[in-house]
Amino acid sequence: MKLVLTILILISLASCQTFTYNQNLAQKLAAFSIASYCTSSYLQNWNCGFACQQNQQGLKNLQIISSTTSYSTALVGYSPDLNGIIIAFRGTTSAHIQTFFTDLKILKSSYPLCQNCYVHSGFYSSYQEIQQQIMSTFTSLRQQYPQANVYVTGHSLGAALGALSLPDIYKLNNNQKINAFYNFGSPRVGNQDYATWFSAQNFAIEYARVTNGADPVPEMPAEWVNYRHYNHEVYYPNVSQNGLQYVQCYYSEDSNCEDRIFFATNINDHLGYYGWNWTSATAGCE
Ligand SMILES: *[C@@H]1O[C@H](CO)[C@@H](O)[C@H](O)[C@H]1NC(C)=O
Ligand SMILES: *[C@@H]1O[C@H](CO)[C@@H](O)[C@H](O)[C@H]1NC(C)=O
Repeated sequence: MKLVLTILILISLASCQTFTYNQNLAQKLAAFSIASYCTSSYLQNWNCGFACQQNQQGLKNLQIISSTTSYSTALVGYSPDLNGIIIAFRGTTSAHIQTFFTDLKILKSSYPLCQNCYVHSGFYSSYQEIQQQIMSTFTSLRQQYPQANVYVTGHSLGAALGALSLPDIYKLNNNQKINAFYNFGSPRVGNQDYATWFSAQNFAIEYARVTNGADPVPEMPAEWVNYRHYNHEVYYPNVSQNGLQYVQCYYSEDSNCEDRIFFATNINDHLGYYGWNWTSATAGCE
């Protein structure tokens, strides 16, 4: 009897695994992700329109880190609104991301932090181009704001770069979990071993991959070339019809979340997180 009860309890626990998702915080971080697309002149005065208005006090000690290629850029600074150090990775424009995936479709690099792990070589090299700068900038901000929270975010390619930065940020944060990692429209970063490893690390107290409607980017690179997402998906099925109703899927590639869509091809959904128009929000500050 006891055994049966234990099994029943275990089954019910397993079937309702859940995770924290703070939509209000995620939206604030999404606004920083949008701001990461803006050029420096708009950011220095924190006058980038919609995105800047969501975090009105802006970023102190603002640094814009970028590589020689156009692919990797990050916005780093201290947000008084969130009492947090923000690291927001820029994505690619919709025109650019097509090229990005065509050029680098399935190439994988082995990933040194875990066994049998591979990650997308384009994402990895994009991260490595700014890795040292990210690390040194974070270290000096951490010294300046020792009590601050730490938040990492990004949209599209920026979401992948964010995931790749987490082991470094975690380490420089004295091996303490960062407060939150929320990202939007992330492509798959690596293979199953990578996804399993990443999900088990708990680099952040709260983390989620937010997906939207029929956004094609989270379906790339494909599962049939052995890419898999890590856990914690928050899926918004249709903001234009249902508003901000969402589904949480603890495990990745779950048919209750974006995986329910076979051919996700709506680029407007990639640029429509939270029902915001990311195209016009970024066009106003480029
Ligand atoms: C969302 O709803 C609209 C109609 O309101 C429909 O045209 C669109 O295809 C829906 N999107 C998805 C991903 O189901
Ligand atoms: C977003 O705004 C742009 C103009 O900046 C417009 O062309 C586009 O149609 C808008 N997208 C949606 C889904 O409303």
